[in-house]
Amino acid sequence: MRTVTWQASGPAVQLIDQRALPAELKTLALTTVEDVAEAIRDMAVRGAPAIGAAAAFGLALAGQTSTAASSEGLWEELQSSAGRLRLSRPTAANLGWALDRVLQAGRQRLPEGPAAVRAAVLAEAQRIADEDVQVNRAIGRYGAELLHDGATVIHHCNTGALATVDYGTALGVIRTAHEQGKRIHVLVDETRPRLQGTRLTAWELQQLGIPFEIITDGAAGHFLRRGDVAAVLVGADRVAGNGDVANKIGTYMLALAALDCQVPFYCAVPISTIDTRLASGAAIPIEERDASEVLELELSGLPIAPPGARARNPAFDVTPARLVTAWITERGVLRPPFAKSLATALEGSPPWASS
Ligand code: MRU
Repeated sequence: MRTVTWQASGPAVQLIDQRALPAELKTLALTTVEDVAEAIRDMAVRGAPAIGAAAAFGLALAGQTSTAASSEGLWEELQSSAGRLRLSRPTAANLGWALDRVLQAGRQRLPEGPAAVRAAVLAEAQRIADEDVQVNRAIGRYGAELLHDGATVIHHCNTGALATVDYGTALGVIRTAHEQGKRIHVLVDETRPRLQGTRLTAWELQQLGIPFEIITDGAAGHFLRRGDVAAVLVGADRVAGNGDVANKIGTYMLALAALDCQVPFYCAVPISTIDTRLASGAAIPIEERDASEVLELELSGLPIAPPGARARNPAFDVTPARLVTAWITERGVLRPPFAKSLATALEGSPPWASS
C-alpha cells in the first residue's frame, strides 16, 4: 500500500493518516487543495518525498476540479494552488521541487488547451510518485553494500515507506540489507517531540520483521561510545550545494557523537532533496512548529510541563557537510567533496532509464 496515491473516482488524493499510527491504519481521501495543504501542515503526511508527492497530486487535484474553460484561466488557478501548497511546510526541498515539475509539465501544454494541461499535470504527478519508488529501491541497493551482516545501526526519525511514496530512503537501506539476508539490528531514536521513531519507524520495522529496539534520543551517544554501533543512518529534508544537511531535529548532535566515536554517518538522500541553489545550510529555511508539541504529550493534548512554561520547537537542524561520511543517492554513494561527486554522479542517466 502506497503512502500517497491518486484516486481517480473522487477525484481525490488518498493518504495514509500518519497521525493515527501505530494505533490505527487509516486513510484520508482529500478532495480540495486546501485539505491537501492542511494534511501536509498538520503532518498527516510527512517526510520530504511523501510531502512532494502529496503536493504534486494536490496540484493535479486543482487541475481536475477546475472549471476553467481556457488554458489561461486554468494556468492562473494552478499557480495560485501551487502557491498555497508551497507554504504548507518550509524545509522539505521536495515540496517546491515537485510543484515546479508539475507546473512545468502543465505550462508546456498550454497551447493545446485546458484538457491537455489537466492531463499533463496529472501524468507528471503520477510520474513523480512512481519515480520515487524506483529512486528508493536504488538508494536501498547502493546503501545496503555499506552494511555488514550483524550490523547494529542507529536510525533517526522516520524515513521509511511512510515518509516516501513507498519503500523508504535510510530505512530502505536497512530494508534492502535485511532482504539480502543480512542480520541488521536497528536502534530506533524515538525522535522527540512528534515521536516519528517510536510511532512510525518501529511500526514499519515490526511489519517487516526487522529486529529493533527503541531508544531515547539522548541515549544514542551512549550506544555509540560503547562501540555497539556500525553506522548511523538518517534521511534529509533539504541538502545545500556544499553538502550541509537539514534533517529532523537531533540529527546534528547525532552526527557529532558519531564523529567522536568514529562511526560512519550516512545520509540517504534522493537527488530531488538536494537544493544546489543554496550555497550552504545557513540558507535552508528551518520550520519552527507550535510549542504545544513540546509542552504536551504527543498528539494526546495531555500537559507534561507546568502551566505557563514556554518552549522552542525547531523541527529540523543543519548538520555541516564535514560531519557526513557519505550521501547514499539513487546515483550511488557520494563522498566529499560533495559538489564534485554530485556533478560526476549526475553526468550519467539514472540506473533505471535503460530498462
Ligand atoms: O517532520 P517530518 O516528520 O516530516 O521530518 C521528516 C524527516 O526529517 C526525514 O528524515 C526526512 O524528511 C527524510 S524522509 C525520507
